[in-house]
Amino acid sequence: MTAKPQAACDVWCKTAKVAADGERTRRLMTANQDRDMSDIKLTVNGRAEQRTCAPNTLLSEFLRETLGLTGTHVGCDTSQCGACTVIVDGRSVKSCTMLALEAEGAVVMTIEGVAKADGSLHPVQEAFRAHHALQCGFCTPGMVMASVALLQRTPDPTDAQVRHGLEGNMCRCTGYQNIVDAVLASAKSLRSAAQ
Ligand code: FES
Ligand code: FES
Repeated sequence: MTAKPQAACDVWCKTAKVAADGERTRRLMTANQDRDMSDIKLTVNGRAEQRTCAPNTLLSEFLRETLGLTGTHVGCDTSQCGACTVIVDGRSVKSCTMLALEAEGAVVMTIEGVAKADGSLHPVQEAFRAHHALQCGFCTPGMVMASVALLQRTPDPTDAQVRHGLEGNMCRCTGYQNIVDAVLASAKSLRSAAQ
C-alpha cells in the first residue's frame, strides 16, 4: 500500500474523531444545561413572566429567544455597540452584558414596552421619527432605550450631556447629530407634558 491512501485514511479518521468529540461535547453541554436550568421571575414591559433558563443565558438571549422580544437587537455581543440596551430597574443596561438570572425580580423595559398601550409613540420615538434620527434602524431600539433612561434621570440635558449619555451606543448611519437633536426635542416635549 502506498503512503498516500494511508495519509488520507489518517486525515479521515482524525476528522471523524473531531466530529465525534464535538458531538459528545455538545450533548454533554446540553445535558448540563438541562440539569442546571433555573426558574426566573421578572416583570417585562409590565407583564409578570416566570420561565426557566440556563445559568449562562444572557439577558439579551432570554428576551429575544425565550420571550420573543426581538426588538432588542444584538450587534456585537461584546458590550461595544449598545444595540441591545434595555432598562432594568430604571437604569439602561446592555443586555448582552448581563445574565438573565441576574434580572431575577427586576422590572425590565424593552423597546416593545415604550409606546403607549394604544400604539401611540413615546415622545422619544416621535422625535426620532420627526428629526430623521435613524436610517437603517438597527441601532434605534438601543438608542431609544438609552435616551428614555437618560431623560428619566436628566430631564433637561445639555447637548454635551446627551452625547455623554449615549456614548455607549453606536450608529453607523446617521452621524449622531440628528439623534442628539431628537433627544433634545423629546426632552422639551416631555417637560411640557409634565407641566
Ligand atoms: S450587542 Fe450588546 S453591546 Fe452590542
Ligand atoms: S441608523 Fe443604522 S446604525 Fe444607526
